[in-house]
Amino acid sequence: MSSSFDWSTPKKPIIALSPMADMTDSAFCRIAKRHGAPVVFREMISAEGLVHGSEKSLKMGKFEEEERPLIQQLFGADPASMAEAVRMIDEAYSPDGFDINMGCPVYKIVSNFNGAALMRDPQLAAALIKAMSSATAKPVSVKIRLGWSDPGECLEFVKVLEAAGAALITIHGRTKAQGYSGTADWEMVGRAARNVSIPVLCNGDVHSPEAAVKALDVSQCDGLLIARGALGNPWIFPQIDAALAGKPIVMPTLAERIDTVRDHGTLHAELHDGDMVSFRKHLTWYFKGMAGAKALRDKMMRISAISELHAVLGEYLSAYGTGTTNTAPADE
Ligand SMILES: Cc1cc2nc3c(=O)[nH]c(=O)nc-3n(C[C@H](O)[C@H](O)[C@H](O)COP(=O)(O)O)c2cc1C
Repeated sequence: MSSSFDWSTPKKPIIALSPMADMTDSAFCRIAKRHGAPVVFREMISAEGLVHGSEKSLKMGKFEEEERPLIQQLFGADPASMAEAVRMIDEAYSPDGFDINMGCPVYKIVSNFNGAALMRDPQLAAALIKAMSSATAKPVSVKIRLGWSDPGECLEFVKVLEAAGAALITIHGRTKAQGYSGTADWEMVGRAARNVSIPVLCNGDVHSPEAAVKALDVSQCDGLLIARGALGNPWIFPQIDAALAGKPIVMPTLAERIDTVRDHGTLHAELHDGDMVSFRKHLTWYFKGMAGAKALRDKMMRISAISELHAVLGEYLSAYGTGTTNTAPADE
């Protein structure tokens, strides 16, 4: 199916679900969408895996229509492979756009000159954008960090990306050297955004509706990518909408939370051939900081089938479900 999406299409500010490996699969993206996520970025897929015929890599790009607009992220460092990977995914599924991972700090990735390592090679970064853009009519965006070790590196780097044809840039307000520690520097993200005329999304540490309002205010960006703030918490999307409109923020009741976990669990089981061991990490996020969470976590960490999930949730609901409990998880 063809798509007419471009980055001028979504409502401003653009609020989207950030790509997260092993988390933003089709099941979670559908849950995020059903709760109001305007755009979703799917977890990164290896371009080399795709071009070398990995069935698993190709299957990762599959999605349902309700996930649109959906951006598929790829990682790789060879322009020809990245272009071929785009063609393969486009032909198989036709997502609304492609994104290049230039921010991943993990050793396994950067040691192959992928992810954040591309920020040290602007020429190669530009060649990737050009090769991918020539393989598809869809917008090609890029997700970067502030820099490798110097947070000011993004100020020039974004200009290179724009000149190469990037349709949008997301900047995670930390350097590669920082990993996930320290606070995201939204001000530096904003300075970089003002160096280009394409839309820029601010990312990092937007874990609450209040933080979303502040990040937009400080960075003056065109929107936000929400990552950990959405894990176990798809309600953050309508909450951000409310906060931006100056309306009260509505917390899910425990019953609503459990319903969402049941739905997510069912979609996850369907997608992963009944495997629920890989759902445990989502459960930890859904019940973080909640009453009885420790005892619940012990039970959840033994769940390996959907029937066990329903049983544990049923028990928890009868022990704690008063219907109107304020059950938003505490922030990390
Ligand atoms: C479990 C996990 C997996 C991630 N996988 C990806 C990924 O596949 N691609 C990517 O660009 N960033 C990935 N990230 C980074 C996030 O998209 C985001 O940039 C980062 O977590 C900062 O945002 P936050 O503070 O809102 O979590 C991942 C982060 C986490 C926590």
